[in-house]
Amino acid sequence: MKALICEAFGPIENLQLKDMPSPQPGPGQLVVQMKSAGVNFPDALMVQGKYQVKPPFPFSPGGEIAGVVKAVGTGVTRFSVGDRVMALTSTGGFAQECLTEEARTLPLPQGMDFDTGAALMLTYCTSLHALKDVGDLRPGETLVVLGAAGGVGVSAIEIGKAMGASVIAAASSEDKLAVCRQVGADETINYSTENLKDRINELTGGKGADQVYDPVGGAYTEQALRATAWRGKLLVIGFAAGEIPRIPLNLALLRERQILGVYWGDSTKHDPEGHQANLRQLEAWFVEGKIKPLVSERFPLERAREAIELIANRGVKGKIVVVND
Ligand SMILES: NC(=O)c1ccc[n+]([C@@H]2O[C@H](COP(=O)([O-])OP(=O)(O)OC[C@H]3O[C@@H](n4cnc5c(N)ncnc54)[C@H](OP(=O)(O)O)[C@@H]3O)[C@@H](O)[C@H]2O)c1
Repeated sequence: MKALICEAFGPIENLQLKDMPSPQPGPGQLVVQMKSAGVNFPDALMVQGKYQVKPPFPFSPGGEIAGVVKAVGTGVTRFSVGDRVMALTSTGGFAQECLTEEARTLPLPQGMDFDTGAALMLTYCTSLHALKDVGDLRPGETLVVLGAAGGVGVSAIEIGKAMGASVIAAASSEDKLAVCRQVGADETINYSTENLKDRINELTGGKGADQVYDPVGGAYTEQALRATAWRGKLLVIGFAAGEIPRIPLNLALLRERQILGVYWGDSTKHDPEGHQANLRQLEAWFVEGKIKPLVSERFPLERAREAIELIANRGVKGKIVVVND
């Protein structure tokens, strides 16, 4: 079977498509024939050795997939060969066949296609955990989403709206902001051409934002934090801009602001029941039409490297997927 392989940390261009032996399921594991695999920013960081998780070599990147069960290991009770599933894999997704854990695999909901299943879990679970479990977002609150046209950004807009918030989407270009409006943002800010802090204050009538969802980092973080309301919250999601901001703590003292870290992957281990409840909530919202991952581009497995390069270079709108048609 073919797989995109990383043999050493380094530039994305070093990744190669190789023939590899088919994986064999151990106890509690499944082998899934990948149909579609979601591409996420951590894939780009991981192959370069810049992510907190450093898998042993050789490995395939790819943290979430949808596909068809090809084989099941001993002890697997919820799945049979031929079932349509979606799964969180951490690694191994950009391959024709992929090993998954039963505990991290779900039936593909009725009516959901493989691309949607592959694009849903990582970003939407992150945003629901951030906004509900960490941020406790309330209906009527104002949520500012940075990097809002990216993977987690689009999911934060849709979930913010589903939770009853008023959403201000901030991104770097007009075509990205058009995507944000398309998925439900109430207001938009182009932070390449407008002052982020001033515009948030303007759009909130001087009150400031109740919550800022920040997957970008760099200079935008402090600008957005300075435009939060009394007891406003900054949700620290990631640092796609490459720079981890150093924030003067007097900004937390002033207005009793809260700076809150979000680490969804770890949270699923600390609170597995909460994670399951969030998955059920996402499925219900999908059925009700309140959320729908925006898959903007599909790359055949042979071009998986290009997909990772695109996300590393700030070129993705919504989600892109790698497919094995
Ligand atoms: N904490 C968690 O549990 C968790 C879970 C999942 C992901 N994350 C993190 O969330 C971040 C975003 O992930 P994603 O999959 O949504 O990525 P994405 O689709 O590429 O979105 C990231 C956005 O960041 C902005 N950006 C600004 N400067 C950038 C730069 N130099 N390079 C690339 N993007 C830049 C871009 O928007 P503009 O062009 O509009 O600025 C881009 O759309 C990553 O840091 C990831 O590690 C965290």
